[in-house]
Amino acid sequence: MITAEKIFKSFGTCTVLNGINLAIGAGSTIGLAGPSGSGKSTLLRCIQGLESPDSGRISREGYPGFMFQDFQLFPHMTVWDNILYAPRVRKLFPRAYLEAKADRLLRHLAIGQCKDRYPTNLSGGQKQRVALARTLILGPDILLCDEPTSGLDVAATGDVVALLKSIQNEETTIVVASHNLDFLVQISNRIILLKNGSIGADIVPQELEDPIVHLRGLCD
Ligand SMILES: Nc1ncnc2c1ncn2[C@@H]1O[C@H](COP(=O)(O)OP(=O)(O)OP(=O)(O)O)[C@@H](O)[C@H]1O
Ligand SMILES: [Mg+2]
Repeated sequence: MITAEKIFKSFGTCTVLNGINLAIGAGSTIGLAGPSGSGKSTLLRCIQGLESPDSGRISREGYPGFMFQDFQLFPHMTVWDNILYAPRVRKLFPRAYLEAKADRLLRHLAIGQCKDRYPTNLSGGQKQRVALARTLILGPDILLCDEPTSGLDVAATGDVVALLKSIQNEETTIVVASHNLDFLVQISNRIILLKNGSIGADIVPQELEDPIVHLRGLCD
């Protein structure tokens, strides 16, 4: 469960979030759409606590995990060590369990062949998927993903769709910011469109005949 009440956030003279109210039930997958600069990343960062709203209140229940738009992989670690670093440091799970889970994530995301490589030797799409695996290894109750498919081709996007669907359950709340409306429609129970600092639309894609056309019309 995530609630945001009257969230305001400005950078200098630019008001990015202009009184956002939001209630997200546990177990739902919310797509955040909106033009570039509309505040999707800022809202996700406020939910995670990486950024503080100027005013308003955010509350969330459960352990959150964040997948960054610019990956933020450790350059001096292999893919395998990037994925296992945080749970190893925090001694969260037994080693065999972690390694089996890391293997499964690598396989699901079709990046098993990249296991021993360093981030500089990965494509943008491969880095994207390592960043997602690194977040998922911690088993977050709330998964916040910023543009998890940017730079991915159709097949790799399909892998991300399948993986997100495989972790959808009654306890896990997922919020995904993306420009890819087709992707958002495939994974979301609800899509929120940010526009000029406010919620411009809040739709259930399954209830609309053509949600993509509907959202595109509202984006223009
Ligand atoms: N730390 C910051 N300092 C100054 N301005 C910022 C900062 N973070 C974001 N902004 C500005 O806030 C606005 C919203 O940015 P944000 O990254 O949230 O948009 P977005 O919807 O995620 O865009 P995109 O689709 O391009 O990722 C932009 O005008 C951006 O330049
Ligand atoms: Mg962004």
